[in-house]
Amino acid sequence: MKRDTILKGDCIFLMASLPTHSVDMIFADPPYFMQTSGHLNRGDGTRFQGVDETWDKFSDLHDYDDFCRRWLVECRRILKPNGTIWVIGSLQNIYRLGYLMQEMGFWILNEVIWTKPNAPPNFTGTRLQNRHETLLWCSPKKGAPYTFNYKTLKALSGGKQASSVWDIPICLGPERLKGQDGKKLHATQKPEKLLYQVILTSTKPGDLILDPFMGSGTTGAVAKLLGRHYIGIEREERYVKAARKRIQSVHPKMDDFANLIYDEKPPKVLFTHLLKKGIIKKGQYLYTPTLKKAKILPDGRLKCGVFTGSIHQLAAKLQNKSVSNGWTFWQIFTKKGYQPIDILRRKN
Ligand SMILES: C[S@@+](CC[C@H](N)C(=O)[O-])C[C@H]1O[C@@H](n2cnc3c(N)ncnc32)[C@H](O)[C@@H]1O
Repeated sequence: MKRDTILKGDCIFLMASLPTHSVDMIFADPPYFMQTSGHLNRGDGTRFQGVDETWDKFSDLHDYDDFCRRWLVECRRILKPNGTIWVIGSLQNIYRLGYLMQEMGFWILNEVIWTKPNAPPNFTGTRLQNRHETLLWCSPKKGAPYTFNYKTLKALSGGKQASSVWDIPICLGPERLKGQDGKKLHATQKPEKLLYQVILTSTKPGDLILDPFMGSGTTGAVAKLLGRHYIGIEREERYVKAARKRIQSVHPKMDDFANLIYDEKPPKVLFTHLLKKGIIKKGQYLYTPTLKKAKILPDGRLKCGVFTGSIHQLAAKLQNKSVSNGWTFWQIFTKKGYQPIDILRRKN
């Protein structure tokens, strides 16, 4: 199976050629079936370029459901058992997608609300301003294992647990692709920041991501940026061309977030092993966060006042807890100041 490519054509037909259980993550941004008619004007009388394309037309809701059922069945077959799928939609279609997915056995892990600080107003003033879209993040069945980069997202959120509400502006300015007429090339081009968040939440470097409704190529562009692979499917020639050109100009940026260093599992090392290797020495002091001293004994245990025990036992004792991680509790004094002894097992 060729990776890092965009296939031109109908996704239901083309997905049938992809092997079962072959992709790690799917991002699907299907037609919304907006059911709009006529034109929408801004307050100043200029025309608003909404979604009024042939790809968004269906004869009725049953026709739309039928279409969605067919591509979702293919997604479920292609997705690895430990993979996940994201679908994005608005009030017109998200309830139908959620219903169909639950009927098929998908398990909803999260519903994410994407709020748009710069959404256009409700031009006619007849309803509330529509300022969000909804994403459903699902595994193929209840209880299936899946990738979730908890610590990377927490680091990305400035140390706070990442939430299911994402405030991201709709894409404007240089990020927005333009056609030859200078107008926006694609009515529903998603912001790269949205895909950045999706991909960092649920994939590892080198994973394969499928987007059956590739449009302007946002998923492929961000996948490449983050060192992931992609397969895109798109039926409109002009979007395929623009997406290929867009992705070609992307240079991967493998920083700590893309590399998921915050979620890296620490190596399994015994404290006594560090002693044997001379990385720490008997008689040396370790310090609590409040700089209380503990001496390293010849057998690798610590002594602090009247208490002795392993790094974990003594950390728990001093904090009045039943268990504690000694690697992150105890600190050594280094040229950079006090640092957790965790750095020693990672250096080892
Ligand atoms: C909502 S847009 C996706 C926009 C995309 N996420 C982006 O950032 O540009 C849906 C896209 O699916 C394409 N499409 C609709 N039906 C399709 C089908 N049956 N097979 C392949 N592509 C299809 C449309 O041409 C449109 O570009």
